[in-house]
Amino acid sequence: MWIFLNGRFVPREEATVSVFDHGFLYGDGVYETLRAYAGRIFMLSRHLERLRHSAHLIGLELPVPDKDWPSLIRETLERNGLGPQQTGGGSRDAYLRVSVSRGEGEIGLDPGLCSQPTVVILAKPFTPYPTHLHENGVQLALVTVRRNLDRALPPQIKSLNVLNNILAKQEATRAGAFDGIMLNVQGHLTECSTSNVFFVSRGRLCTPAGACGILEGITREVVLLLAKEEGIPTEEGPYEAEVLWGAEECFVTNTTLEILPVRQIDHHTIGEAGPDGKGGPGPLTTKLQKQFRTNLSRFLE
Ligand code: PDD
Repeated sequence: MWIFLNGRFVPREEATVSVFDHGFLYGDGVYETLRAYAGRIFMLSRHLERLRHSAHLIGLELPVPDKDWPSLIRETLERNGLGPQQTGGGSRDAYLRVSVSRGEGEIGLDPGLCSQPTVVILAKPFTPYPTHLHENGVQLALVTVRRNLDRALPPQIKSLNVLNNILAKQEATRAGAFDGIMLNVQGHLTECSTSNVFFVSRGRLCTPAGACGILEGITREVVLLLAKEEGIPTEEGPYEAEVLWGAEECFVTNTTLEILPVRQIDHHTIGEAGPDGKGGPGPLTTKLQKQFRTNLSRFLE
């Protein structure tokens, strides 16, 4: 495995970062998770835009010029045998992670202590999720951990400090769920630990609005676009948790999961119960999953 680290490609064993790196010491930095399909990257430009936005919001100047990111990311794929000509016709998808931390510096919170940000780009073969998750759906838990307050640590910063989400994930795992849905301090639905939430209510596809304090997912954006193209009414707003109990369908989205159906939230079955007493993917979810796959090439760069 070849990893891009601060201006050069090094083997995994040599890809090490200082214990004085403020990313390690304080979680001071930003990141993006991307996915490549047979060497072509899903919504690359939007991911880079979000990386720049996150960096801007924490006052971090990216040390790589805008025009160089796409070629560096593509080179990372190629050096790991995951580029377009190397994947043998589409079977080897890749997981990509771009991380930029404040860099190495003396102990202390002041970013001024760090002279040069640390940049890491890594690519590895994508490990698909077990197919039954997408076919049958997963269980979520409504967790007690609240999503970070927008005016404290804005959720639109895709930050290396992910403890808020980790606490939610731990609580969900303890409840035996795949993931946890967090509310904001006003008690409105936000998102899961690494994904956005959608639900169907009276035929409308609803998802918490950006103003509720979420990371506005790029997959979320694509799903909203596909739904509009299909003539499915969509709505973004503040929603109480209770709307989920009566929801006809529910699913979560992110770059690696694409569209993952939800069949149960705590002890509430979502949609029609199957023979096992649990819900399953509903018609709109299945339609959007299909549309996503059919239209995928439009979103690859
Ligand atoms: N997570 N919300 C949160 C908190 C996330 O961390 C993510 C993505 C999303 C969905 O964003 P997108 O559709 O752009 O992937 C929503 C990635 C997968 C991660 O942390 O690895």
